[in-house]
Amino acid sequence: MHLLTFFQWLSHSSLGQFMQKSVWAFAVAETVHLIALASLGGALLVIHLSFLFAWKRTEPQKLASGLLPIVLISLIGMVMTGVLMVSEEALKCYYSPAFRAKMAALVISIVLYFTITAIQKSTSSIQTPWWVRAGAAISLLSWLSVGLAGRAIGLL
Ligand code: HEM
Repeated sequence: MHLLTFFQWLSHSSLGQFMQKSVWAFAVAETVHLIALASLGGALLVIHLSFLFAWKRTEPQKLASGLLPIVLISLIGMVMTGVLMVSEEALKCYYSPAFRAKMAALVISIVLYFTITAIQKSTSSIQTPWWVRAGAAISLLSWLSVGLAGRAIGLL
């Protein structure tokens, strides 16, 4: 199935029709999107800062595993509300360079984040190697770009 056909199908689907006809559904979805963004952003920021500055008191790995449920639940919330919003403006998103950049940055961010936490888990030393810290810096910038691209969808 070509990507355009999928976006057209989503737009004409009963979900798309409901989102397009409702006066409040998009606003509710975007509000939940932003609430999930706040919890995801908060958890990721703390974890990345602990990797970057190699906090001794709170081992980064313990922090990352402790906050994993929040990261996963928030991500699922972002994807679910994201799909709801896309169904309301499917063709706008399909032709939006900001939306495409966001989806690409999101995939890169998720792969990068889980790779870094897996590597840190496998290293026995309590010290965070410099390249994991460098990876954490790139990962943080990558997540930031997802948010910026998300904001740009509505602006462009
Ligand atoms: C962690 C991942 C994500 C982050 C950090 C993120 C961030 C954002 C931000 C900051 C906005 C702008 C909100 C505003 O202007 O008030 C936004 C809007 C949006 N996001 Fe996301 N988002 C994420 C995941 C997703 C996913 C997975 C989808 C689609 C499946 C998606 C689809 C959208 C759409 C359609 C909008 C509305 C754009 C508009 O205003 O027309 N987002 N997102």
